[in-house]
Amino acid sequence: MPDVSIDSPNSGFVISRLNSTNDAWYVGRAGMEYRDLIPGRLGGRFIASHIRIPDGGETQDYVHYHKARFQMIYCKSGWARLVYEDQGPPFALEAGDCVLQPPEIRHRVLESSAGLEVIEVACPAEYETRADHELPLPTRDVLPERLFGGQRFVRHRAREASWGPWRLDGFESRDTGVAAATNGLASARIVKAKSTVTAIDHGHAGDLLFLFILHGEIRIDSGWQGNHQLLAGDSCVIPAGMDYLLWAGAGLEMLEVSLPAELPQRSSLVSYSSL
Ligand SMILES: [Fe+2]
Repeated sequence: MPDVSIDSPNSGFVISRLNSTNDAWYVGRAGMEYRDLIPGRLGGRFIASHIRIPDGGETQDYVHYHKARFQMIYCKSGWARLVYEDQGPPFALEAGDCVLQPPEIRHRVLESSAGLEVIEVACPAEYETRADHELPLPTRDVLPERLFGGQRFVRHRAREASWGPWRLDGFESRDTGVAAATNGLASARIVKAKSTVTAIDHGHAGDLLFLFILHGEIRIDSGWQGNHQLLAGDSCVIPAGMDYLLWAGAGLEMLEVSLPAELPQRSSLVSYSSL
C-alpha cells in the first residue's frame, strides 16, 4: 500500500541561506532592509524576516501598532532604542535580547546603532500596521502585567538570562519568556551546543518550527529531504511530520521559534499508512 500518511515530509521544508544572493535584500519602512526567510509564507500563516539598518542614527518612525496575532523580534547585532505603551521609558534592545510585541501595543523605534540586525517572526504573514497620532510615548502608566489581546509584553535581556535544558539532549537553551507571556501560543528560545552533538528529532505536529543559525553550524539529515548544512545567517522551517538527524558543531547558537510553545509530538498525527 502506498504511503499516503498526512505526516509524510512535504514542501513545507524551507531553507533560506544568507549568501545565496545579494538580491535577497529589499528596502522597506523607515530605511530598514529586509530579507525574507520564508518566501512561500506557509500558506499566508507566517512571515520571518532578517532586518538590518546599515547606517544607524535616529529612526524616521512614529507611534504605530500592528494587528498581528503573534510578533517577536530578536536582536542579532547592534542595538535599537525602543519605547512601548505602558512599559516605562525608552530602552535599548541589545544583541541577544528580544521583545514580544503583543497585538496592537503602541510602540516606536527611536534610534539604532549602525549595523543593527534583527530577526522578526510574525503570524499571520500579512497584517495591518496603523499609526497612532493620539498617544504620546512613553506613557505615564507602567503596567507590565497589562494584557494586549491576551498577551503580555516581554523584554528579554540576554545578560540576565539563565540556561537550562532543551527538548533534545546535549543542548542548552534559554527561554525568552515568550511562552508564558503568550499563554502557550508561541515560544522563542536561544539554543546552544558547547560540544559537537548528534540528536534525533522525531518530528512534531505543530504549526511552526523555525530555526535561525546565529553562530556555528548544524546539519540536518532528513532521509529523502536530503542532507543540509546550515551556517550562521541561514534559517529553516521544519515542517510537521518530518523526522531528522540533527548534527550541531561545537559553538552552535541558534534561535528557535515555535507555535505552539509546546510542540505536539508527531505520533499524535493520524497515519493512514498504518491502517
Ligand atoms: Fe512596529
